[in-house]
Amino acid sequence: MDKAQAVKKHKELAAQLNHHDKLYYQHDAPEITDAQYDELRLKLEEIEREYPELVTPDSPTQRVGTTLSTGFEKLEHKTPMLSLANAFSDEEITDFISRVHKFLGITNTQDIEIVGEPKIDGLSLSLTYVDGKLVSGATRGDGSVGENITPNVKTIHDIPHHLAGSNIPTELEIRGEIYMRKEDFNKLNESREKAGEKLFANPRNSAAGSVRQLDSSITASRKLHFFAYASGHLPASLGLKTHWQFLQQLKSWGFIINEHIKLLENKNEIAKFYDHINKLRSDLSYDIDGIVFKVNDLDLQKRLGFVARSPRWAIARKFPPEQGQTQLLKIDIQVGRTGALTPVAHLKPINIGGVLVSRATLHNEDEIKRKDIREGDTVIIQRAGDVIPQIVGVIKEKRPKDSKEFIFPDHCPACGSLAVRNEGEVAKRCVGGLTCPEQAALRLYHFISKNAFDIEGLGMKHIETFYQEGRIASPADLFLLKQKDETSLTPLRAKEGWGPKSAEKLYEAIEAKRTIGLERFIYALGISQIGQSNAQLLARYYHSYENFKRSMLEAGKSDDNQYRTELTNIGGIGDSIANDLVDFFLEKHNLDVLTALEKEITIQDAKKVRQDSSISGKTVVFTGTLTRFTRSEAKATAESLGAHASGSVSAKTDYVVCGTDPGSKATKARELGVTILNEGEWLELISK
Ligand code: IVH
Repeated sequence: MDKAQAVKKHKELAAQLNHHDKLYYQHDAPEITDAQYDELRLKLEEIEREYPELVTPDSPTQRVGTTLSTGFEKLEHKTPMLSLANAFSDEEITDFISRVHKFLGITNTQDIEIVGEPKIDGLSLSLTYVDGKLVSGATRGDGSVGENITPNVKTIHDIPHHLAGSNIPTELEIRGEIYMRKEDFNKLNESREKAGEKLFANPRNSAAGSVRQLDSSITASRKLHFFAYASGHLPASLGLKTHWQFLQQLKSWGFIINEHIKLLENKNEIAKFYDHINKLRSDLSYDIDGIVFKVNDLDLQKRLGFVARSPRWAIARKFPPEQGQTQLLKIDIQVGRTGALTPVAHLKPINIGGVLVSRATLHNEDEIKRKDIREGDTVIIQRAGDVIPQIVGVIKEKRPKDSKEFIFPDHCPACGSLAVRNEGEVAKRCVGGLTCPEQAALRLYHFISKNAFDIEGLGMKHIETFYQEGRIASPADLFLLKQKDETSLTPLRAKEGWGPKSAEKLYEAIEAKRTIGLERFIYALGISQIGQSNAQLLARYYHSYENFKRSMLEAGKSDDNQYRTELTNIGGIGDSIANDLVDFFLEKHNLDVLTALEKEITIQDAKKVRQDSSISGKTVVFTGTLTRFTRSEAKATAESLGAHASGSVSAKTDYVVCGTDPGSKATKARELGVTILNEGEWLELISK
């Protein structure tokens, strides 16, 4: 195909794919099969491989799909999404069965049917169907309120957009697990490694990362699957008597049910099921981390009810983490945004339960010493739940004769600056600051990231190249990009893969962010230990940027002056955080960054904390299991209304808000005569 033909064909295919994407994602009405769609996409990719100049940002291969404009909206679950109590031994399962019998007043000799299900290690999802049509999909969130990820959910093929069959209720909530197959996870990480992108720790994290994308075309490009296994709101009119019947109903509606789910008639079968699935585990194409046992009879489930946030009618029997042995080839030192040096173990790739592991975390210098881990050692690797694979220990008998103790470097591998370890810290840090290329790029990326300046269309890869090309060396350069480009010999608009349109789009995205709130600005600076919540504390306290900067500069003048005391008196800011803040303002290059930024942007004062609410100036303590909001949400609400949220009850406490199982704090409040409120009373108080 010559260039002219390629351009023509590319245009045609792009138009076709755009049309089908729209039908599929926005109108739920595809006109072609998945295989036909894939064929069109493959053809387009082929042309783009031959003529890379045709890869424009608006090509369907790069396309921003059904884009949500701001973060995710909140969505309240009609029925709360609960969790399961865990059991770690056969004995605990026997106890569970006995508890169920006792609660229901059924003798132990009578069998209660149980359904055994593999516990899928993914992320839970709640789907709402109205008149058989999928209307929303939400993450679990805090159990009561999740994130609305409907456009993303619609890209997962295992999830029906319309329920099949005839038994269709008006409203229905279906729960299940989104997961990624081990094979697809391995492939995804392989291609991320080639592209120099950050690797996902495990299939679970990659499924979660893929689903929590604001751009649903990214979700669509990741191979995600879904098993349905529970209900939220389930109308009685469906006439279902057992969980087993419910599972069959799910199947006829068009959901996929895990093939290993089994109806277990007695204790003997229950015990055997665990061993059976445990043996299968590593051969399954997806990760499971245990077995869920559920009482089959729905009436019995109803009678058993819930304790705290888990059902009495179900339990999760967890599997031990999967392990394997391999050789540690090399210990690599990575430099983080704040200069922390983190050791990473490069391993001879090993398949642990179907997942290829080639890296493990070593945490820090002390961890390496404590476990006496050396390059060349044979090590035991463990893969468990949500974490990056870890090194459990070393097989000393297999240690090579010439092995040497690992000496942690005292210089930064990226820039050669000294690496020092401050008192009380576990990590050594490179002192190079912005002169260290590794830190500089990571800091710039942090500066533009979602919770900081949130500049659309800029990713880590762009930042790295812009930094290498000398376009952006420090945050303020971002706002000078357009101006510099006008006189540059190598402007962005002439750069391969950019073009005038996308350069203009980027300039606009940057221009839109010249005004920023103080809280975001403080966070954007990337000061060690200053995450979003500490940035919020500081912004609320110092109120204006001028006041904040002046106070930090003053606090740095001596170890105990009024400003320093004021800083450490802010609840949540201790000595170590205060040191990091003051140190940041003592560095000349950081002050230069601030001065340059001041010329380019406007920093808005923080919102005033309300002085006139029903709880202004009061001290509130939250305790027990809260069901209508999370503890951090409750604290944030209290603080925004001018109250102080404290962790302990004293005579100064005005209100103690109790969830279920409140414990000793409620007892103390009663002794001290402090007003105790339940969640409803609290909501009523703050609505005044
Ligand atoms: S039933 C009321 N069944 O495990 C209980 N959960 O720790 C509803 N999970 O949040 C959950 N496989 O994400 C159930 N076959 C299965 C499951 C399963 C995985 C997850 C789910 C839940 C967590 C509970």
